[in-house]
Amino acid sequence: MEDFSDPCELRVFVCVNDRSGNPEGTPSCSPSVSQDDISAVKAWLQGKGLWGKVKLTKVLCFGHCSPEGGNACVLQKQRWVRGLHGAEDLKALLLQELPSAGP
Ligand code: FES
Repeated sequence: MEDFSDPCELRVFVCVNDRSGNPEGTPSCSPSVSQDDISAVKAWLQGKGLWGKVKLTKVLCFGHCSPEGGNACVLQKQRWVRGLHGAEDLKALLLQELPSAGP
């Protein structure tokens, strides 16, 4: 085993677990935040030349499931965020963490 450093300036773990097929069960982050939202934000980052500097990593449940929306964690700050809805909320989170990325 060997330790290593993440080359990303910003890595955000985003839950995309989807239990919508079981509406009576535990809530899930998707569809509030979906795989399509991740793809849209990735394309947005690529358009800004930031993909590689900033990475989104999909996760299947942090154990913080809520009906209020999706969950994410900013690795470098150990910042937890809940209540996310869609790609625009993810972009807003990234802009809070990386203001130089601009609107
Ligand atoms: S389903 Fe996303 S934290 Fe559990």
